[in-house]
Amino acid sequence: MRTDTGQVINLADYRPTDFVLERVDLTFELDPTETKVEARLIFHRREGADTTAPLVLDGDELSLYSLLLDQNELPAEKYTVTPETLTIPDLPASVPFEITVTTIINPEANTQLMGLYRTGGIYCTQCEAEGFRRITYFPDRPDVLAVYTVNIIADKEANPLLLSNGNFLGGAGYGPGKHFAAWFDPHPKPSYLFALVAGDLGVVEDTFVTMSGREVALKIYVEHGKEPRAAYAMDALKRSMKWDEDVFGREYDLDIFMVVAVSDFNMGAMENKGLNVFNDKYVLADPETATDTDYANIEAIIAHEYFHNWTGNRITCRDWFQLCLKEGLTVFRDHEFSADMRSRAVRRIAEVRHLKAEQFPEDAGPLAHPVRPTKYREINNFYTTTVYEKGSEVTRMIATLLGRETFKKGMDLYFERHDGQAATVEDFVTCFEDASGRDLSQFSLWYHQAGTPLVTASGSYDPANATFTLSLEQMVPATPGQAAKEPMHIPLRLGLILDNGSEVEPTAVTGAELTGDVLHLTDRAHTVTFEGVSSRPVLSLNRDFSAPINLHFNQSPADLAHVARHETDLFARWQALTDLALPNLTQAARDAREGKPVTCDPVLIDALLWAAADHNLEPAFRAQALTLPSEADIARELGNNNDPDAIHAGRQAILTQIAQAGVETFAALYEAMLPSGTFSPDAASAGKRALRNTALTYLSYAENTPDRAAAAFAAADNMTDLSYALTILAHRFPEAPETTKALADFEQRFRDNALVIDKWLAIQATIPGAAALDRVKELQRSPLFNAKNPNRVRALVGTFAFSNPTGFSRADGAGYAFLANEILDIDKRNPQLAARILTAMRSWRLLEPVRADLAREALLQIERASGLSTDVRDIVERMLK
Ligand code: PHE
Ligand code: ZN
Repeated sequence: MRTDTGQVINLADYRPTDFVLERVDLTFELDPTETKVEARLIFHRREGADTTAPLVLDGDELSLYSLLLDQNELPAEKYTVTPETLTIPDLPASVPFEITVTTIINPEANTQLMGLYRTGGIYCTQCEAEGFRRITYFPDRPDVLAVYTVNIIADKEANPLLLSNGNFLGGAGYGPGKHFAAWFDPHPKPSYLFALVAGDLGVVEDTFVTMSGREVALKIYVEHGKEPRAAYAMDALKRSMKWDEDVFGREYDLDIFMVVAVSDFNMGAMENKGLNVFNDKYVLADPETATDTDYANIEAIIAHEYFHNWTGNRITCRDWFQLCLKEGLTVFRDHEFSADMRSRAVRRIAEVRHLKAEQFPEDAGPLAHPVRPTKYREINNFYTTTVYEKGSEVTRMIATLLGRETFKKGMDLYFERHDGQAATVEDFVTCFEDASGRDLSQFSLWYHQAGTPLVTASGSYDPANATFTLSLEQMVPATPGQAAKEPMHIPLRLGLILDNGSEVEPTAVTGAELTGDVLHLTDRAHTVTFEGVSSRPVLSLNRDFSAPINLHFNQSPADLAHVARHETDLFARWQALTDLALPNLTQAARDAREGKPVTCDPVLIDALLWAAADHNLEPAFRAQALTLPSEADIARELGNNNDPDAIHAGRQAILTQIAQAGVETFAALYEAMLPSGTFSPDAASAGKRALRNTALTYLSYAENTPDRAAAAFAAADNMTDLSYALTILAHRFPEAPETTKALADFEQRFRDNALVIDKWLAIQATIPGAAALDRVKELQRSPLFNAKNPNRVRALVGTFAFSNPTGFSRADGAGYAFLANEILDIDKRNPQLAARILTAMRSWRLLEPVRADLAREALLQIERASGLSTDVRDIVERMLK
């Protein structure tokens, strides 16, 4: 493991390499503990570069076996080598030369899961961001693009399958018991997109005919016996390929596209050219084992990785500061895909829930950073929700500002102008400026200023002049390293809704630019006047979440209820219900903390029950509408001095009151929303299940017995219903014999399916209350837990820390102390995983003082430990600053 050197990488220091890499020829002789890697690299000195500069190659925990220059062995005094660097001086000034580097690496000992490692008996690589340097010495940076040939030699019986990027060249026997395969990728690529997979796997095959009539072979590799569970992923892949042609005009560019599912993976999946590697969680699904959420995630992630072929691979990043160039854009593309495959409004609600739950706290805490950062210590720590999700929102805002047509022109220009290049965020934005003729320099602040802007709004109606006046003010909060902020260009979609539900068409608007329903906020303060407004309107602001902002707008409950009933934008209806619910929930938390009775505003109850029973609304939307803001949402709204127990108790009381008031509605929905026929994972059926299970949750509050959930558990014929019923039992009635029995049944039934066991672990890790910690510790001793597998660790330890506020933040601080120990333990094997789980504590300063002190103690314990990885040290130090 690399321990911290304290080195900081700055965007301002970027400069191109002195040497241009022309070709890469790799030969792997695979062995579980001693794999030999020969890399033949042809370089020439860049024109204009210093003719005396040495060649400096990156390494990480490497040992050099041999080094040749133009096929002659280089004597040791002609170079210097450490595990991290190979430096070769005195290289030709103008002619190309060939360097042959041979290294020996140990895949079996690679527990970080970066570079070449073993998982479930197969060889697998992960090279983004800086994993290739764990395979061979190399200019391991994304602006070094080369054409690769890969030869793989391995034991034939154990590894019938030998895969790498590009097109298959050929293969044959290779001495006793061995064989080899050769692959050639004609598309120049950076090293982070390299991949190799070898082993014995089952395959699902299909084909896709591209828009120009080429046939592409599609292959999804999974463990033997799991092939039927890859059918949905294959279907999603074909739909993704078609959609990218139809919507973005992008055609696939190799003869073959492969996906490999592995069970040990640090992230969701990886877009290696022509050979995507997936966490098997995002490939495998069938009705018995996958929830509707799993299906939706598989569809989105298959699409995401496929879409990277153009946004990431054909056009890649100049340096890692530009990560959002590929990630933000590709998330935007996968969001649009899911919106087209499913219900656009329901997808948007899910996206915004996720953004607010994950990105807003990051942007408001010690780990806040711009979408395009300017410095980092460990790039692994910048695969963040800010880069991904806020990056996607920034792309979405470009589309909102320019309109869909012009946005499309800008995208086309980007693909045309930068194909084959390693580009920057500035290159991307310039394409939209050129396509639109609009100056986007102020807009670009979204890439550079961290922090969620706060917009404060107030409206007043003047009946005498038939005008509606809207005052808007924006403020971007200070974030680490950025004290003062400039005003941003904020696109606010809005509607003025009259009593009868119709929308006002103002005769004139002054005070800010309005294009369609988009108001352009560019100054710190605007006073906007809408003329020709015949009666008092109700304002719906930030429709479709057109800008990722916090909005303070003191709207009356009656006005919010009006929006919730009449908005044409369904997202805005959901937003209004949320805005109606939040003050109830925050007040409930305050009351619970002071031991006062909690009461729920009848306007909220009416609005929710009205939405619940409105048969014109799709069930999936109604399920979202009925799902109250989470405990974390309430904590964020309260701001600071948070007591998780009070927040929980208050929310429970509100839920109970809504449930009691709506018991008949919920009972009727529970009966009505049973999807007919055999199970189908489609969005409409999933929506019915979601609404039915939401009703079941409310009924568990109204009836306050485990009976109905236990019956639902017994009757369930799919994993969505089964895991939902189990969640209600475990979370609402943890001590009930029905719960003990259901947990044991579930364990028994799925003990051979690790991905399902992850659900069992996660459900128990999120049982509210102080007792959860002991249960988590007990589950760690279960034979079904495996501390070496990232999915298991995330399901148990990660879910506990991220998603169980009352359990993790129990008053005595034992949850924090537990996490500190876990982090130190995980860090020894897998720093990336440790650092990510540690970010669960990023909002520690918002806790009430006693808990905050205990949390700080735990962080200090981590900080004081010796031998920390750069990953964990970077996170813990930023969190304590
Ligand atoms: N680039 C991957 C994606 O599509 C994420 C990833 C990053 C995977 C680093 C592995 C390592 O988002
Ligand atoms: Zn990605």
